Amino acid sequence: MYEGKLSFEELGGRDALERVAKKFYDLIYEHPWIGLFFKDIDQKVIESQQVDFMSAALGGPRVYLGKLPVPGHKHMMLTDELFDLREELLVQAMNEVGIKDELRERWLRIDEAFRKKLVKRDISECEKRFNTDEILDFPNPNPKINKAA
Ligand code: HEM
Repeated sequence: MYEGKLSFEELGGRDALERVAKKFYDLIYEHPWIGLFFKDIDQKVIESQQVDFMSAALGGPRVYLGKLPVPGHKHMMLTDELFDLREELLVQAMNEVGIKDELRERWLRIDEAFRKKLVKRDISECEKRFNTDEILDFPNPNPKINKAA
C-alpha cells in the first residue's frame, strides 16, 4: 500500500537514485529507438541530471540546476508510445536494481504527472530551445520493438 510517509533517506537516498539511473540509462542507450534521442548526450551527464531532478522531486536535497522538463523537452517529438517505452525501461531498471516499493511508486507517479505536458500530438507542437537547436523526431524503426520485454 502506498503510504507516502518515508523520508528521502528512508526511500534509499541518493544512492538508490544513482543505482536506478545507471541501469535505466544503460537500457535507454542500448535501445534501438529511444536511444536515438540520446545519441549526442553524455550518459554520465544525463544520469546525474536525472538523479538531481528526482532528488528534489522526492523531498531530498534541491541540487537540480537544469531546465524544467517542459522547456527541456520542447524540441522532442514525444509520443505516448515513447513515453510508455521509457516507463517500461525505468520499471525494468528498478526491478533489476531492487528498491523500496514506495520509491518505485512515488518515482512513477512523478514521471506520469509530466506525460500530458511532454507528449505532443503533432510535430508542429515542437519548438527549438535555441537558434541552432535540432527538432528530434524519430519514428519507431520497428513497431515490433516498441515494448521493452
Ligand atoms: C519519452 C520520454 C522522454 C524522452 C525521450 C526524454 C529524453 C531526454 C533527452 C534526450 C534529454 C537530454 C536533453 C539535452 O540535454 O539536450 C533529456 C533531458 C532531461 N529529461 Fe527527459 N525524456 C523523456 C521524459 C522525461 C521525463 C518524464 C522526465 C521527468 C519527469 C525527464 C527528465 C529529464 C531531465 C530532468 C532532463 C535534463 C534537462 C535539461 O537540463 O535540459 N524526461 N530527456
